[in-house]
Amino acid sequence: MDSSTSSDITLHINGEKHTLPVDHRTTVLDLLRERLDLTGTKKGCDQGQCGACTVLVDGRRALSCLQLAVAAEGREIATIEGIAEESGQLHPVQQAFLDLDGYQCGYCTPGQICSAVAMLEEHAAGWPSAATRDLSPEAGPPPLTPEEIRERMSGNLCRCAAYVSIVQAIGRAAGARTEEAAR
Ligand code: FES
Ligand code: FES
Repeated sequence: MDSSTSSDITLHINGEKHTLPVDHRTTVLDLLRERLDLTGTKKGCDQGQCGACTVLVDGRRALSCLQLAVAAEGREIATIEGIAEESGQLHPVQQAFLDLDGYQCGYCTPGQICSAVAMLEEHAAGWPSAATRDLSPEAGPPPLTPEEIRERMSGNLCRCAAYVSIVQAIGRAAGARTEEAAR
């Protein structure tokens, strides 16, 4: 590879280090799929509009089609392949999608699940959304109503329109999470 247009970089993905030469124009999405065989992350629009390529970067949701791999060096990336527990136990969001049929063709599902995992963290941290009615600091996280879930997940499109089940699944996972926190 031409060293003026490529560099050796080290990425941390799902707890593993990967060092490899990368063309500076390569996106995280293409690197995951084409170079590392992590094909769970899907390419939909390739221009930041559908959310199919959502991964977690340092715990926050990120559109991997808009991120250059060279800019992700040193950050912690998690893909759908790394969302479950090391023991193999599914993440509560994954389990809820399975239990409630939160998908039809499944193409958008990895992005939906990654997005939902980070969204629940954002909500627990008290981040408001455009649907949040009470923005006063003492109000705390708003109830995770279907309206809140829809607004917070609005960056993830589903061509099969499995939205009803997706919202139900995320609501169930949020409930499980709340029960866990109360224990
Ligand atoms: S493929 Fe990245 S947002 Fe559509
Ligand atoms: S389940 Fe088919 S695109 Fe969402």
